[in-house]
Amino acid sequence: DVIEVSALTGNGYFTYDPGFVSTAACESKITYIDGDKGILLHGGYPIEQLAEQSDYLETCFLLLYGELPNADQKEAFFNKVRMHTMVNDQMSTFFKGFRRDAHPMAIMCGVVGALSAFYHDSLDITDEKHREISAIRLIAKMPTLAAMTYKYTIGQPFMYPQNHLSYSENFLHMMFGNPCEPSNVNPVLAKAMDKIFLLHADHEQNASTSTVRLAGSTGANPFACISAGIAALWGPSHGGANEAVLDMLNEIGDASRIDEFVARAKDKDDPFRLMGFGHRVYKNFDPRAKVMKLAADEVLAELGLENDPLLKIAKRLEQIALEDEYFIDRKLYPNVDFYSGIILKAIGIPTSMFTVIFALGRTPGWIAHWNEMISGSYRIGRPRQLYTGPVQRDFVSLDKR
Ligand code: ACO
Repeated sequence: DVIEVSALTGNGYFTYDPGFVSTAACESKITYIDGDKGILLHGGYPIEQLAEQSDYLETCFLLLYGELPNADQKEAFFNKVRMHTMVNDQMSTFFKGFRRDAHPMAIMCGVVGALSAFYHDSLDITDEKHREISAIRLIAKMPTLAAMTYKYTIGQPFMYPQNHLSYSENFLHMMFGNPCEPSNVNPVLAKAMDKIFLLHADHEQNASTSTVRLAGSTGANPFACISAGIAALWGPSHGGANEAVLDMLNEIGDASRIDEFVARAKDKDDPFRLMGFGHRVYKNFDPRAKVMKLAADEVLAELGLENDPLLKIAKRLEQIALEDEYFIDRKLYPNVDFYSGIILKAIGIPTSMFTVIFALGRTPGWIAHWNEMISGSYRIGRPRQLYTGPVQRDFVSLDKR
């Protein structure tokens, strides 16, 4: 029947590849991953070296322009980002339309998409300068919007960005600061925050980036496309996993219950999965997870939280996964979300904001891919389908159904 309908509609032959496991949808120069070897390169530079020697904004430049900036370019880029950290004052009214108990990702989908209503002057996607200013605006305003989202959900006044602070210090200041007091951000935590942003900055054609490309292929404006990316990121199989990891650790609650949850993860009749384990591309240790693990140790030592009970559960789970045949056979290693949740919790970021932090970090990657597509030759993205519904039939009137 399928073949008959296929022939009937003139579909011809095409590849059937659910989940795009082996289908490339584009060419890209931005990021390279070798999942078997655990390699991740941005513009050819290993993620470990960028995490050690670069910083988030410099990595944003690399993703957007394909090269590391020289000193002048770096300063000019940082200044441009600083100039655009404020959002239009009417945005605060827009926030007020949301329930206070709304999930922060629900608010982020709305407020980031709404930027297209406030920045009409940069919506001509055929103009390189417009695309560039939109990119800067998005990178600059994401921390402001993310912090506003948090402040709104806890009923506190919004904080103004302080542009003498670094990108990550400013974010922590807007998250946890008090408008009546000078900023007081712990530099160790700001450094860890910067590392989290950097490690999330891009990961080639993941679900959210592919969503941004697909939305962008229709000619939609960049703010709308990034909003689509945020929506795709929200799911627990993607960016929502960092929140799900902490929920899972809390649910396990005590080391004595770990075996029960590991058994559930292996039971094919139980939909439960160990959150923060496994990756579509990495069949080896996620290189970002290695860096994140070290950063977690630093932050926990700084805050004196080495004996945190949830951390102990996390470490035990990691050990089991590395020794257990089920996880070894399926090459299920801890992924970046496993450790980022632990750091974010230690910094004091509430669990519901975890995926927002991921969205903030991933923004330059989304924009870089969108821009790469728009500035090259591209066609509207239009996947095919394998039709398995009824063959053609005559309409049945209501009295005969
Ligand atoms: N716990 C238990 N078993 C798992 C897990 C897990 N976390 N992940 C995969 N498996 C098993 C599957 O049941 C399957 O077993 P089977 O071959 O016996 O049927 C096998 O491993 C392969 O799994 P798939 O679902 O086919 O792998 P896929 O590449 O489609 O999915 C994914 C990858 C979604 C990341 C998956 O590993 C998962 O759900 N992990 C937990 C959620 C998570 O941490 N997501 C974050 C991803 S990283 C990121 O977005 C930054």
